[in-house]
Amino acid sequence: MTLNPAELVVVSNRLPLDVTFSDDGKVSYGRSPGGLVAALDPVLRQSGGAWVGWPGAPDFSFEPVELDGLTSIPVQLSGDEIAEYYEGFSNATLWPLYHDVITPPEYHREWHEAYRAVNYKFAVAAANVAAPGGTIWVHDYQLQLVPAMVRELRPDVRIGFFNHIPFPPEALFAQLPWRREILMGLLGADLIGFQRSQDAGNFRSCVRRLTGLTTRGHSILAPAPGGGRREVISGAFPISIDSASVDALARRPSVQARSRAIRAELGNPDRILFGVDRLDYTKGISHRLKAYEELLREGRLKVPGVVMVQIASPSRDNVSAYQALRDDVETTVGRIAGDFGSLGSPAIHYLHQNQPPEEMAALYLAADVMLVTALRDGMNLVAKEYVASRVDGRGALILSEFTGAADELRQAILVNPHDIDGLKAAILRATTLEVPRQRRRMQALRRRVLEHDVSAWASSFLRALAAS
Ligand code: G6P
Repeated sequence: MTLNPAELVVVSNRLPLDVTFSDDGKVSYGRSPGGLVAALDPVLRQSGGAWVGWPGAPDFSFEPVELDGLTSIPVQLSGDEIAEYYEGFSNATLWPLYHDVITPPEYHREWHEAYRAVNYKFAVAAANVAAPGGTIWVHDYQLQLVPAMVRELRPDVRIGFFNHIPFPPEALFAQLPWRREILMGLLGADLIGFQRSQDAGNFRSCVRRLTGLTTRGHSILAPAPGGGRREVISGAFPISIDSASVDALARRPSVQARSRAIRAELGNPDRILFGVDRLDYTKGISHRLKAYEELLREGRLKVPGVVMVQIASPSRDNVSAYQALRDDVETTVGRIAGDFGSLGSPAIHYLHQNQPPEEMAALYLAADVMLVTALRDGMNLVAKEYVASRVDGRGALILSEFTGAADELRQAILVNPHDIDGLKAAILRATTLEVPRQRRRMQALRRRVLEHDVSAWASSFLRALAAS
């Protein structure tokens, strides 16, 4: 396929494409669902857009494909690159460092070399397809060197960067042996967006202390190619979900029927507690299990009146901290099941599986109490999905104050997940919250989530980028 120059190029580690291989060796491509794709779809179609990303398997590539007006351009990664750039530097160095060092980050020079080399592959692929004077929008911590690399290759394009995860305070970021290179990589952009103003503030103080560059309000004076200074803008752009689609899904009679069926399958308990997360140590799954276990042990919650459902979707399972977490969570789940369940009345249902969106919507509708207890999270879209699904205006959301979502969802029951007694009190409060109070809180939460959806987020970022 000959590539037409694209006015807007989105660059992210993963390509939003479902690739399936049939038994006869044929490969077929489908658009993968997801908020980011849905939000950018209209603007990408309008502008004849392109998406650059990794197709998700080692040594796998294909000719660029166009599906419904969007061209997907694969970046091929070898097994070694996946081990060093993706599992290593992205997910065993940057991910823990940017999430409050919940687990210790590992610093390896060869991982950093691979990160730099792979970032360059992404930058070249994006630079090759962008139209003259076009826009390149780079996403997330896996690709922080791409903005400066693209600026070298294509000084004519406008460059945006959005960080989906937190940006750490200077005291932690300063550990990174390649801290200056990362900051200068990001400063290749014209606009750098973060989830919370706290993240943007952390970034600017890192820039001041570690590069010596001057910041003024939201702007940073960065070196321009050929001397002089260029202005880089930084700010908070809290991401959201495709709220109207989630709301519509939850209104479907088939989803509502499935939700009632789930309740019956769980034995019609008085209260269903629900958690759904990628199996990641940032999500505080062990903290919520500990609180639940103690409440059962003390008899303050009783099976079969109460049941917990925990879905943990498989994630990064070649990284050792994720393997250790899985062992820990599954040991605790086994103990809770063994100590507090009886035949036909388990205390906890645990699924290490992904669920389709219809099943998720039904589960959200069935969940009397939603547990979001992340120790650190850039935003947390599960909290927003729960709210958008509660078309009945009921349910109680327990939300960690260490999530970006907590800045917006002030009517949730906010918790510090490290404080197990506080978490237990919040769970008891949520399980006994009267319906009028549930409705009052949920109404305010829904107003916020339905108004600030992902397309409002994308438009505000792209508007600010165009004006920068
Ligand atoms: C977080 C990151 C994303 C990442 C996702 C799934 O939300 O911000 O960039 O794609 O986790 O993780 P994975 O490593 O499977 O892509």
